[in-house]
Amino acid sequence: MTIQENIDQQLIDSGSEPMSNLSSNTHMADIIQARFSRRTVLQGTLGAAAVGFLGAGLSGCGGDSSSADGSKTLQAPRITFDAIPTSRADTITLPAGYQWTPLIPWGTPILGSFPAFRDDGMNTGTEQLQQVGSHHDGMHFFPINGASDHGLLVLNHEYIDSKVFHADGPSAAPRPQDEVLKEMAAHGVSVVEVRRSAAGGSNWEVVAGVYNRRITALTEMEMRGPVRGNDKLKTKFSPTGVLARGTLNNCSHGYTPWGTYLTCEENWSGYFRNSTDDSASRPREQFRYGVPHSGQTSRYQWETATPALGNNLSTRFDCGSTGASAVEDFRNEANTMGWIVEIDPFDPFSTPKKRTTMGRFGHEGIVFAAPVVGEPVVFYSGDDARNEYIYKFVSKNVYQQGMRGDDLLDEGILYVAKFNGDGSGEWLALDLDDPTFAAAVAAADGNVVSGINFDGFADQGDVLLNTRLAADIAGATKMDRPEWGAVCPRTGMVYFTLTNNSSRATTDEPNPRASNTTGHIIRWLEDGSSAATSFQWDIFMLAGGTSGPMAGAVFPGDVSEMPLTEDNIAASPDGIWFDGAGVLWIQTDMSGNQQAGLSADGDFGNNQMLAAETDTGVIRRFLVGPKDAEVTGVVMAPDRKTMFVNIQHPGDRSQPGEFTSNFPANDGVSRPRSTTVVITRTDGGVIGV
Ligand code: FEO
Ligand code: CA
Ligand code: CA
Repeated sequence: MTIQENIDQQLIDSGSEPMSNLSSNTHMADIIQARFSRRTVLQGTLGAAAVGFLGAGLSGCGGDSSSADGSKTLQAPRITFDAIPTSRADTITLPAGYQWTPLIPWGTPILGSFPAFRDDGMNTGTEQLQQVGSHHDGMHFFPINGASDHGLLVLNHEYIDSKVFHADGPSAAPRPQDEVLKEMAAHGVSVVEVRRSAAGGSNWEVVAGVYNRRITALTEMEMRGPVRGNDKLKTKFSPTGVLARGTLNNCSHGYTPWGTYLTCEENWSGYFRNSTDDSASRPREQFRYGVPHSGQTSRYQWETATPALGNNLSTRFDCGSTGASAVEDFRNEANTMGWIVEIDPFDPFSTPKKRTTMGRFGHEGIVFAAPVVGEPVVFYSGDDARNEYIYKFVSKNVYQQGMRGDDLLDEGILYVAKFNGDGSGEWLALDLDDPTFAAAVAAADGNVVSGINFDGFADQGDVLLNTRLAADIAGATKMDRPEWGAVCPRTGMVYFTLTNNSSRATTDEPNPRASNTTGHIIRWLEDGSSAATSFQWDIFMLAGGTSGPMAGAVFPGDVSEMPLTEDNIAASPDGIWFDGAGVLWIQTDMSGNQQAGLSADGDFGNNQMLAAETDTGVIRRFLVGPKDAEVTGVVMAPDRKTMFVNIQHPGDRSQPGEFTSNFPANDGVSRPRSTTVVITRTDGGVIGV
């Protein structure tokens, strides 16, 4: 095997898909040729007011089947199933010829004494620590010995829904100790050994194996990278600022070319409360991230647990200055959140590592560009909040076979995206050694930035602790809530969902709709290697209905604008993932009026998953989820004959004892439970194509 073939094999073994064509030259020619015709196309959709809002026209992920060096390439995938209609049924709906079975719903025992799930809501915190968590989200399948019917399913548990989590809803503050422990134990990550069961088809089962593990809001972790040991990480628990406890609000995920899992800390700020300060001058590490102040309450009021959990495990969620110094209280506890966390699923005793080089923000997810031996590794991550940014991490060390996270993820440069109106884009370094950034920091010193009296950065660790502020100063482009990213295995083109932003008043080219209630998908191609500092972008899809201001359309690039139809209307794209064939899977996360069917933009049914051919613009609805649920998290076994999809928060408009969904039991009485579902074709064939 050549070194590149070896890497490809490692990627396959880890459940990934090898990049087969890293060349972008042909596509760059397409961009230049298509730019002006694309402007005309998008003007048709957006109207005269949008003239000039248009990015470059990129060719789709597909088309090319050969590369300059003759290496193998993927053919453009063609979807073979018929689109299904929208639905409001409380179940999973799939095209003809597909079947599904639930696997590992919330509360499934995987560890220790294997305590059974209790539908009366009376499982204890200690039992929850031995069970699958709640609110399944991002997920990856790590094959064991390359198998497609046996592996480790590793998945995030984003949050809990108090109204269905406890027997009769949550108790008021001060919160009973065991309710708090159980809530903390339902957060984090599950590592579950699974295999296809004797029944075959979409029937899989949990293996009571040695890899099974729960990582929760309680698990001890190591701080790594430039922020390790920083004064602003020092706490009563870790006076040297090198350790932390727990991971929170783990939304989407990532994985690495070397076979580890990355969990992402998204909406972590609301778990804390600064009990001693409600001023605008409270720490910028809290202010710029919306950590509640003394006049507000934390989301679950864990800091009020009574009696308190030992070792300050609950009181640490008060990040006020309650002690004489930082090492006598938890004023810095919130600074241990907002990171990318690396977990080795094949070492159940390993300590998760928070990789501070990759920045501190509301990490939705993280995705790598295909690694190339001798070049840096590159990861992309979005900050899911209104008007926040898209980031790129470029490692300092170049990739060599056998390298792992400690070699590649502790040193590097974090960039933030600036999307120009002419279809070009720039990656702006957030690095004090970068002259442009250093000059911007110097110019901002003494000014008010994002409501903060900015007085400079002490060091690069300070920059990373305040990543959002650094990106503000650099001049990044405010986006409509960046969610998941996906990299085309054929072209290297990067796709990102921008789920919605109803508060957008001022439009720009990359965010072209005011009051963007239905969201869109943007994409770009780097100018050269993945580590390039400039790129070309355009809009791939405007999500929405069939008419009105939020009418949806696809812009595949090689053909004309394609309005959305009943086959593919969708709102609030969130999860996005390329399978090994190059099919782009798109998942939706509608909430509020859209979820209830009261949106003026169209009736989109329950949340759904679609499949897209990015070169032709063909998009078909593949799956509709149960009531009041988000469809999020998708991965396939290497043979692409088994797909795993997560159904999060079915029945999330429930009241205690009055459930709006009984998924997955579907018996009219049971508690709704977030669940992984296993999908196969009834003929056992490859999914989607
Ligand atoms: Fe947790 Fe941005 O969705
Ligand atoms: Ca999400
Ligand atoms: Ca979302």
